[in-house]
Amino acid sequence: MREEVLAGLRAPRKALSPKFFYDARGAALFERITTLEAYYPTRSELAILEARVGEIAALAGPAVALIEYGSGAGQKVRLLLDALDAPVAYVPIDISGEQLERVAASLRDDYPQVDIHPYRADYTRPLELPRFPMARRRVAFFPGSTIGNFEPTAAAGFLRRVRRSVEDNGAMIIGVDRRKDPAVLERAYNDEAGVTAAFNLNLLTRLNRELGATFDLAQFRHQAVFNDEASRIEMHLESLTDQVVTVAGVAISFRAGETIWTESSYKYDLPRLEQLATDAGFRIDQLWTDPDQRFWVGFLAAAPADH
Ligand code: AVJ
Repeated sequence: MREEVLAGLRAPRKALSPKFFYDARGAALFERITTLEAYYPTRSELAILEARVGEIAALAGPAVALIEYGSGAGQKVRLLLDALDAPVAYVPIDISGEQLERVAASLRDDYPQVDIHPYRADYTRPLELPRFPMARRRVAFFPGSTIGNFEPTAAAGFLRRVRRSVEDNGAMIIGVDRRKDPAVLERAYNDEAGVTAAFNLNLLTRLNRELGATFDLAQFRHQAVFNDEASRIEMHLESLTDQVVTVAGVAISFRAGETIWTESSYKYDLPRLEQLATDAGFRIDQLWTDPDQRFWVGFLAAAPADH
């Protein structure tokens, strides 16, 4: 973390990875974001999953090993585990070990017939997935539009690795936030209660605690704007003054108005999503949306491997 943070803050355009948001307080703030009226993605996705889980289960087929990339609080997967025909195993992958064990324990209670196999890892790095001889296929589950955090080329690279992990008969269930009216998008990342601002600023609190940094939170401001050309929401922390902050013993200077870019959240239209799926070696079998057409859940099947 120290090396990654320092590299990000020494760069000409200061940036930090959004994966650093999720300490215990950050994870709790994100859970609160998902309950906000303005933050539609979680609600839209849940509405789609609830309405379509029967169709999703039919496409997945019987006896699958389900692998979730970034399992978080572990709520959405219950819909799938309830609907799937005799799922063999569930592998939640998450960077937060404590949450992972809690979620695994509660799922073991509720799904005793499923082999619950938690895997603590940064899923953007290479993974060694367990094998389940009784499983007919691997199905990846990647909800929440987390794919939106990846730069387009990195998104394709990541999905290509998922494609390799699920092998030639595998599939993926993915949640993707759609490109839409910028006013709707910007409202979702600038909630009136200031929860998203607190979530963004909490990154500085974390650096103060874990890297002995000296950020004064009153001297930075949350910013979220839609970059239409790149089709992404950008979150930044803007320095309100010229200032010098120490991070892990290193002096980092800020000009007034300079920002730390903390997150990109890419929004996909159909051509962009089709391009992504194709680049990664998947074929879109089915796309479902919500009545307001804000979000997609897609069922992607592995396309035959190119040699
Ligand atoms: C968890 C990456 C899907 O991009 O909407 C929510 C994170 N950031 N509000 C998103 C987030 C600010 C979220 N993802």
